[in-house]
Amino acid sequence: MHTGTTLTQFIIEEQRRVVGATGEFTSLLNDIVTAIKVISNAVNKGDLMGVLGSAGSENIQGETQKKLDVITNDVMLRSNEWAGHLAAMASEEMEDIFPIPSQFPRGKYLLVFDPLDGSSNIDVNISVGTIFSILRCPDGVSEPTAADFLQPGTRQVAAGYALYGPSTMIMLTTGQGVNGFTLDRDVGEFLLTHRDVRITPDTREFAINASNERFWEEPVQRYVQECLQGKEGPRGENFNMRWVASMVAEVHRILIRGGIFMYPKDTKDPKKAGKLRLMYEANPMSFIVEQAGGLSSTGRERIMDIQPTGLHQRVPVILGSRNEVERIVSYHKP
Ligand code: AHG
Ligand code: MN
Ligand code: MN
Repeated sequence: MHTGTTLTQFIIEEQRRVVGATGEFTSLLNDIVTAIKVISNAVNKGDLMGVLGSAGSENIQGETQKKLDVITNDVMLRSNEWAGHLAAMASEEMEDIFPIPSQFPRGKYLLVFDPLDGSSNIDVNISVGTIFSILRCPDGVSEPTAADFLQPGTRQVAAGYALYGPSTMIMLTTGQGVNGFTLDRDVGEFLLTHRDVRITPDTREFAINASNERFWEEPVQRYVQECLQGKEGPRGENFNMRWVASMVAEVHRILIRGGIFMYPKDTKDPKKAGKLRLMYEANPMSFIVEQAGGLSSTGRERIMDIQPTGLHQRVPVILGSRNEVERIVSYHKP
C-alpha cells in the first residue's frame, strides 16, 4: 500500500539536496508540526474542550486575548523550547522575546510566530491559522536579544502557515517554491497534497475590509472603486469580493485560485502604519506568496526588503496575484 509523501519525508528529501544540511532544520520543523497537530486538535474540539471565549487579558498590541491565543502560544513555546534547535522565540502574544531556558541546549535558529491568526473568528467556528517564520540566529550570538530578530524578510530560512479549516493544512516554503500538506487525522501525519503551488498572475477577486474605506489613501480607494465599477468601469470586467478576517484563510484562497489581499495604510490610528505585523504576519506570508509567483508590497516598497525597527512593528500589506499588485503599486507612484 502506498502511504503518500509525509511532510517529514518531503523535508528530509528536500534537505538532502542542500549541501551541509545537518538535519537540525528538519527536526525543528517536526517540532513545529507537532505543535500544529496539538493546536488543530484544540481548535477542532472547540467548546468540548472549553477553549473558546476570552482569556480576560490583553496582549502587547492592546488586543483582548482569547483563551486560545494564550493556549496556542503556550503550545508553540513548549513544543519548540526543549530540542536544542532554537536560540530564542518571539510571538505576537508576548511583549519580549522568549530566550530558550537554561536547562535546554541552544541552537542556531530563531522562531517567530502568530500562534492563532484570525482569533476573532474562533468563537464563530470560522477558519483560523498559525503563521511561523524561521530566521538564523546571527553568528556568534549565544544570548539573543530582540535586536537579533530584526532581520528583513529576505533573510527568512523558511516560512509557513497552518490553516485550521474543514481540513487542517500546512503550506510551507524553504525558498524552493511552496508545497501544501493535508492532515490525515487517522494516520496522524501531514501528507503532500499540493505540490509546487503557483498563484495565477491575473485575478478578478479582491479582499479588503471595506468598512475602513474612508481611512484609505487615494491609490487604494481608486483601485477598489475601479473594481466595484465592474464591466461599466475602466477595468471593463466584473470583480468579486471576499473578507474572512483571517489572513491565513485569505492567503490560502489566493494560493489556490488567485486574488488580491489588502490591509493597506490608513489614517484610522495615526500611530499605526497598518494593522498587520511585519514579523509575525507580513514577512512569512510575503515569503510564501513570492515563492508561489505572487507579489507582496506596502504599495511603496517590497515588504521583504523592509529593515524591521521593532518586534511588533505594523506595516501596510498588499499581496497576491502579480499583475494586480503591480497595478496598485503603479497607482502609488507620484
Ligand atoms: P490576529 O487574530 O492574529 O490578531 O490577526 C487578525 C488579522 C488578520 O488575520 C485579519 O486579516 C485582520 O486582522 C482582520 O482585521 P479586521 O478585524 O479589521 O477585519
Ligand atoms: Mn494574526
Ligand atoms: Mn494572532
